[in-house]
Amino acid sequence: MRKPRRLAPDELAPYEWHPPRRFSRWGVGELRGKGQGARGEADPPGSDLPLAPCPSPLDWAALFGNAHPVEVEVGMGKGLFLVTQAAARPGANFFGIEVVRKYQLYAATRVAVRQLPNVKTTCADAKALFRDFIAPGSVAAVHVLFPDPWWKARHKKRRVFTPEFAADIARSLPVGGELHVASDVAEYFGVMTGILRAMPAFRELTAETTAEGGYETNFERKARAQGTPVGRARYARTAEAVTVAPDPAAG
Ligand SMILES: C[S@@+](CC[C@H](N)C(=O)[O-])C[C@H]1O[C@@H](n2cnc3c(N)ncnc32)[C@H](O)[C@@H]1O
Repeated sequence: MRKPRRLAPDELAPYEWHPPRRFSRWGVGELRGKGQGARGEADPPGSDLPLAPCPSPLDWAALFGNAHPVEVEVGMGKGLFLVTQAAARPGANFFGIEVVRKYQLYAATRVAVRQLPNVKTTCADAKALFRDFIAPGSVAAVHVLFPDPWWKARHKKRRVFTPEFAADIARSLPVGGELHVASDVAEYFGVMTGILRAMPAFRELTAETTAEGGYETNFERKARAQGTPVGRARYARTAEAVTVAPDPAAG
């Protein structure tokens, strides 16, 4: 990975949000194997501590210093989508969640170099954050772009996009709020769209798979360069109750 310019912690601080100290970035452990994080890294110190109770969900207006709508990116990697969107749309706030610290730092550095006041990044497990820190109806849009496919059958349970996670995303959106998913793995794209189509809480706006086009993220750039088709779909939150779709992994 190309090293980004190294910034001092106080230069990065305005662009980072840290979960409370006793909160493990791996959440309460459902992603973990024995003593290891989801990506085979050693557990961070203190990760066996119980999840701290969160009496007050994230206060976006306090965090960003304004009441602009908030969009959340799950697994922003090196942050290309985050910085491009934030620079193009200063009237929206962007919150990027990335579970691997070196990528979160990379993205935060990109944001800091551009001094984008409408971006915060955090190193955390997105599933745990949605479950415990993101208030119902508090987010205008969620982007899940090129999530890790975890190719091996026995690793698929580590995928971020599950029926429960889709339900937590639905709860975070007001009616009319949008969810945007993309993947260059046809099977995983089918799983995501299958889950979302089974949820009355979502209405499909667009869904297409294209072999040609530009790119919005680093992984999309790689897929385009290899000629791999990319699936992309957008959903709007309906007024229907949130339900948990059948688990495609179970069938
Ligand atoms: C395949 S990469 C895609 C990165 C970026 N979205 C892109 O398209 O270039 C998936 C990213 O999601 C992150 N990730 C995986 N599981 C996560 C989780 N539970 N919470 C937050 N980030 C996660 C990974 O560390 C990785 O950086």
